[in-house]
Amino acid sequence: MIEFQNVKKSFGDREILKGISFFVSKGEILFILGTSGTGKSVTLKNIVGLLKPSSGNIVVDGEDITQFSEDQLFAIRKKCGMVFQHPALFDSLSVFENVAFGLKRHESLSENEIRDRVHESLELVNISGIDDKLPSEISYGMQKRVSLARTIALRPAVLLFDEPTTGLDPITTNSVNQLIQDLSRKLKTTSLVVSHDMHCALKIADRIIVLDKGQIVDEGSVDEILESQSELVRDFLLEARAGGES
Ligand SMILES: Nc1ncnc2c1ncn2[C@@H]1O[C@H](COP(=O)(O)OP(=O)(O)O)[C@@H](O)[C@H]1O
Ligand SMILES: [Mg+2]
Repeated sequence: MIEFQNVKKSFGDREILKGISFFVSKGEILFILGTSGTGKSVTLKNIVGLLKPSSGNIVVDGEDITQFSEDQLFAIRKKCGMVFQHPALFDSLSVFENVAFGLKRHESLSENEIRDRVHESLELVNISGIDDKLPSEISYGMQKRVSLARTIALRPAVLLFDEPTTGLDPITTNSVNQLIQDLSRKLKTTSLVVSHDMHCALKIADRIIVLDKGQIVDEGSVDEILESQSELVRDFLLEARAGGES
């Protein structure tokens, strides 16, 4: 569904991605783990064309998007829904209007169809009855769900998550994890999650890639990662054991 072929990305003379290659298969949940500043967000932004690789190729659903124009990228952004780290809802719009926003822009749906899709999406993230609330009137965890509902309302084939559990308490973290897993089953989406949360990765990933300073240093199934001899991965595992006991 997504393939990186020796992708490099520099800003000025700083090379952030140093030639990374990986793929995400249809329907799987792939985690890219790495400490902060290793190029995780840059990786995601390259997929939806918010950034362009300095060299190498990115293939999304069979199309090489590397040289795509803004018009062509519009279609890619419909296909690949991005869930940003921070909810970034419109403060002055209600929960309902926030979720409906993209639908009104992207799709030619009737008012009724939009209403149904908004409610369906809110139900998928286990929210109901707060249509008229403003973002400031609901908790941060709820805002994250609303932001997720807004993305899934467009029914993207691929969901890209940037640090979905960072800054959440353990209970909300668990429910967001559960949600990612449920969505990928119910909507049959392909999910790419970038995170530094090994605990989450061990729980829901089909496969894990470890990124360090712009290079892939390890890759495998959860079982393979648990046996990894890489020092960085061992550190991540220790931290996951110390931090997450549930
Ligand atoms: N638009 C940009 N211009 C210049 N440098 C950037 C830009 N975006 C990211 N960087 C740099 O690239 C590095 C990796 O960033 P990022 O992918 O956001 O890290 P993370 O793994 O924490 O998500 C950081 O050092 C960041 O400062
Ligand atoms: Mg980031």
